[in-house]
Amino acid sequence: MDSAVIHDTDFAASALEGLQSSPKWLDSKWLYDAQGSAIFEQITQLPEYYPTRTETRILKEQISALTDVLEPGTVLVELGSGASVKTRILLDAADKLKAYVPVDISADFLEETAEGLRDAYPETPIRPVVGDFTQDITLPAALDAEPKTAFFPGSTIGNLPHDTAAAMLDRLRHWPSIEALILGLDLVKDTTTLVAAYDDAAGVTADFNLNLLRRMNREIGADFDLSAFRHEARWNAELSRIEMHLVSQRSQTVTVAGQPIRFAEGESIHTENSRKYTREAFAAIADRGGWEIADFLTDTGQLFAVAVLRPKRA
Ligand code: SAH
Ligand code: AVI
Repeated sequence: MDSAVIHDTDFAASALEGLQSSPKWLDSKWLYDAQGSAIFEQITQLPEYYPTRTETRILKEQISALTDVLEPGTVLVELGSGASVKTRILLDAADKLKAYVPVDISADFLEETAEGLRDAYPETPIRPVVGDFTQDITLPAALDAEPKTAFFPGSTIGNLPHDTAAAMLDRLRHWPSIEALILGLDLVKDTTTLVAAYDDAAGVTADFNLNLLRRMNREIGADFDLSAFRHEARWNAELSRIEMHLVSQRSQTVTVAGQPIRFAEGESIHTENSRKYTREAFAAIADRGGWEIADFLTDTGQLFAVAVLRPKRA
């Protein structure tokens, strides 16, 4: 497996930077260790979490709009591939792809997923790459000259600040032989639907969020008491985003990587943003990253969209 090594020291430094700030925050990419990735897969099955089933339906029902960008000989590169479930819709529709390259920060989960895909698609070379898509990604050099379509589903772009998202799209735009990008984005909708999707009745999203504390306890010598923090999902209308927070239930001091971190009662750690877009707001970010919208596929309820992007003509 090609990999950029992601060290515990990176996690410790990033966690301390966020926890020593005011307000406190953690980078949402750390939600995804093997356990976090597995909990995310449970989220995708929840009745309240409409994005996965809606995007899946759009891909299945409108797959003919994507065949142009999945022609024989294309390399399909997926960013934040997770369990590569939706990818199978593309792999089933494509004929003789040159390779499938899933890219993810969650190394163990990525390797396990790649094994499953090798069994299911023995004719397609599966070339996983461990990496952080907010940094440079090194794709297998042997594939440089081959035409590439990138796939960035799930509205994972919504977890990135707009500047980071535009910079990432710009780097992608400059990959050798990149021809198209298929990108999933979640659309603005009513607050009740949005908050329920991030605060489900079964408490799976709460467990996903609290796993960050468990991960710090496991990996960087922290001593969080999980029962002293509560998951909260908030809609920030001004910034058009759902925010996940972990709210301290009492005043307490926690040790993280040898440093004391003090919490007041009610103080929160901001752990994730999930931005919701209008077509216009997304088009502006894509434009900054050097892409134009060639097609914009949505469901009848206008909950979610799959955009087909092409490099902007000079
Ligand atoms: N694409 C899947 C999974 C989405 S969950 C779907 O649509 O259902 C988000 C995925 O992105 C996770 O697998 C997580 O490990 C990965 N991820 C999050 N931040 C990342 C980063 N900075 N670099 C690479 N992968 C990242
Ligand atoms: C991966 N990402 C797009 C998910 C989202 O909806 O923002 C992560 C998630 N967080 C809570 N539930 C799901």
